[in-house]
Order: sequence, then C-alpha cells, then structure tokens
Amino acid sequence: MQDDDALKKKLDFLRGKVLKAVKPSEAEIKHFTALADQIMERLHAAAPKDVEIMLAGSVARGTQVRGSSDIDIFLLFPKKLKEREMERVGVGIAKSIARKHAGERIEIKYAEHPYVQLIFDDLGINADIVPAYKISNASEKGSAVDRTQLHNEFVNENLSEYQKDDVRVLKTFLKEHNIYGAEAMVEGFSGYLCELLIYHYGTFYELVRDMARLAVPVAIIPKERVSLNKEDSAAYAKRFNSSFVVIDPTDSNRNVAANVSIESLSRLVLISRRLATNPVSKNFFATRYSEMDTGAKLLKLAKSLDTDMYVLSAKAKDVAEDIIWQQTSRLRLRIEKLLSKNHFEPLLSLQGITENGALIAFFINKTGIGATVHEGPSAFMGAAAKRFLRSHASDMIFLRGDRLAAIAKAEFKTPIELLVHFIRDKREPFPSYLSKRDARIYVNKIDEKHAKILYRTYIEKFNF
Ligand code: CTP
Ligand code: MG
Repeated sequence: MQDDDALKKKLDFLRGKVLKAVKPSEAEIKHFTALADQIMERLHAAAPKDVEIMLAGSVARGTQVRGSSDIDIFLLFPKKLKEREMERVGVGIAKSIARKHAGERIEIKYAEHPYVQLIFDDLGINADIVPAYKISNASEKGSAVDRTQLHNEFVNENLSEYQKDDVRVLKTFLKEHNIYGAEAMVEGFSGYLCELLIYHYGTFYELVRDMARLAVPVAIIPKERVSLNKEDSAAYAKRFNSSFVVIDPTDSNRNVAANVSIESLSRLVLISRRLATNPVSKNFFATRYSEMDTGAKLLKLAKSLDTDMYVLSAKAKDVAEDIIWQQTSRLRLRIEKLLSKNHFEPLLSLQGITENGALIAFFINKTGIGATVHEGPSAFMGAAAKRFLRSHASDMIFLRGDRLAAIAKAEFKTPIELLVHFIRDKREPFPSYLSKRDARIYVNKIDEKHAKILYRTYIEKFNF
C-alpha cells in the first residue's frame, strides 16, 4: 500500500479527472434546476393548498452525477390523511401534470409506496414524484419515504461543497463496479449512504484508505462521526442483523446500509484495496467490454470450461423489476440446489431480467449419472429403518456405519432430464409472478438479445 501522503496526492489527481467527467457544469445544473422548478410549479397549481412540494434527492443536495441522476420531487401531505388516500391523491396530482402533447410520459412505479415517474424521452431525464407525509422528525414518520425530507436537511447542513463533489466521485466509483444503488438487482450503496459515508470518513481519499482495511462487523454512527469498537459493533450487527451498520442520523432505528449485501461490501473492500495500492485510472474505472457477439462469447465460455450451458427463460407478470429479480433469484437458487443434490452442481450460474421475463443460465459439467446412493436412517431407529428397507426393496442395500444406504438407479441421468422435469412437474411451483407455462429450456443455444443480458451479469460477477 502507498504511504498516506503519496496516496492522497494521486487520488486527488484522479478525483479531478473523474469530476471533470461526471460533475454537471453550471449550465447543466441551471438547466436541470429550471426543469425541476417548472415541474414543481405545475404540481403547485394542481395540488391542494396544504400540500407542500419539495425538491429532494441528489439534485436538491448537489450530489448528482451527470447523465444518471433523476429529479426527485416529494409531495408532502398533512398527516391527517389516511395512507391510501394520500397515495391515491398524490399519484392523481402527479399524473395530471404530464403534457402528453409535449412528449412527456407517465409510469406508475411501485416501491414501498406507489409513485409516479414523469419521463422526458427527448431530454433523457426522469422526474420521480413521490407522495409522503410532512414530518419534522423521524418519530412522526408514517412510512419509510417520509425520512427523505430529513435527509435533505442533514446533507445540506453538514456536507461541504468539497465533500459533495467527493460524493459524486464515490458514486461513480461504485457505479463502475456495479455496486451503486439499493435496489434488489444491485444490493449496493444508495445515494444517501454515499453521502453519509463521505461525511463520516471526511473525504473520498480517507474512505478508500479505511475501506481497504475494513474489518467486519462494523457499525458507524455518522452523526457522531465514530466507528464503534469491536464489541459495540457486534452488538449493533446483532440488533440490525447485518455485519455492516450505518445508523441514519435522522433516525437512530434505521440502518441505512440494510440493503448492502455482504458481496457488495466485500467488493468495495477489494476495489478500495486495489486502488489504495495503485491509485491509477485503470483501478478506478471498470474494464470496458464489447457487447458484440455475446451469444458466441457465452458459448465459447461453456466450451472452454468443457461444460454445457443451459438457459431457462420464463415470462413474467408486469410488476416492479425488483420483485421479478428477487423471484428469479429464488428460482435460480432452488434449481441450483436440486441440481447439486442430483450430482449436477453448476459451476457458474447467471440470471437476468428482460422486458417481460426472466432468464437463468447454468454452466454444468458434461456428466451423466447412472446410479446414486440414497442415505437412510440408523439401523437402531426401528420404524424408520423398516420404512427405508421397504421403499428400497428392489435396490442394493448396505450399511455405512450404523446407517442404512441404498444404491438406486438415478432419477435423472442428465441435467436436461432434471430441468425438463422441473418445468413440467406440477409439484415444482414457480414463484408467483413467473409463468411456468411459458418456461423454456435451451441447451448450448441462446439468442443474441438474451445473451446480451446474461453476458453483462457474467462480466459484472467475474470482473476482478
Ligand atoms: N431514499 C431512501 N432510501 C432508499 C431510496 C431513496 O431513503 N432506499 C431517499 C433518499 O433520501 C434519497 C432520495 O430518497 O436521497 C432519492 O432517492 P434516489 O433518487 O434513489 O437517490 P439520490 O440520493 O437522489 O441519488 P441519485 O443521484 O442516484 O439519484
Ligand atoms: Mg435521485
């Protein structure tokens, strides 16, 4: 690792380079702000008097990144309204302001609560319009999105302009390595978490330096700018059921890092260590790859591993991407387990989601299975032993220590037999939003559109 001064100097140089690329210019910010103001005015005109309209998120805090931050606007309702009513009215107001003739589109999104996305296709900008309750401290909150207005205050009061730029640098670093964003598909670091981490560590340089030698479990209290000692961290880890806890300064009961998976945290540690050891561009940015002929590349990969590639595709219902992603994960893990149990353990598995469905790929050794050993109960367990002997009457039975075992013809001789059984058998239900009826399996065959999606996840997973 570099000595601290040398590292700081080199990272500062990189920082400048990154900011040049991702910090919006003053003209761009003006343009963005004008658009946000205009949308807010329209909302003002459409909303009842007691609804406050507030700009939130990175645009309000000056931590946005060129080309990838959206405009976040909150409609703050008085608490006297019931939750469903507040959502209904809020979504109604947001929908009513779209100017369809000017090419604006609306999409209703469902997170913990419904919100409206106003899409400006020409400009490549989205505005998220989110209904919430007006509150002045976290104890009053009715729902999770209510905290956002408090986040605005904390960031604007506590981060310097220099630190806000460091937030932009950190977001870019994480984005490059596919760990930016709290959504299920990423399980990474949210924008607000980036802001808190920069506040806590002080600068991007200090964050990289300290992340390179992070030990878990770790609990951070940004409000007091302390990382707890080992013992206290362990207590927080237990309380929040997570080895990485960052307490929200506006709500001590919330772990802002709750969505960060242990893989994402580990990746941050690895990329920070690499950057701290050698602080050059190449270690800040991800390796670029070409999106050409990805189908051929995946097949080549299977061939080079001497495996077969099995791709399962299934249609999905029109619900939030996060949900489809989670259900696809669950399905993938279930099939993986079943394959392993039947001696077809996948060496690598990938998943992706398309506009209207889910994809899962398994790379499995070219093995065929003739027979398998079924483990039975102990000979000393009378009833169970008797049952085992009866059900394996036509198999070869032997003892392994005190345990009965039977050698029986394999239920599935090849992975494809198992996979086909899986999508046909009624006793193997799919998660609720994935359609089993439309499920298909392809062996060593993939169309280019699907390959693009899976190849990307392959690169993201194996890029070190
Ligand atoms: N928010 C939150 N928890 C989440 C997602 C969002 O508390 N899981 C709040 C945060 O206060 C956040 C705001 O909603 O700042 C807007 O969310 P988002 O647009 O996702 O993040 P930004 O901070 O605006 O970052 P970006 O630059 O990526 O838009
Ligand atoms: Mg935003």
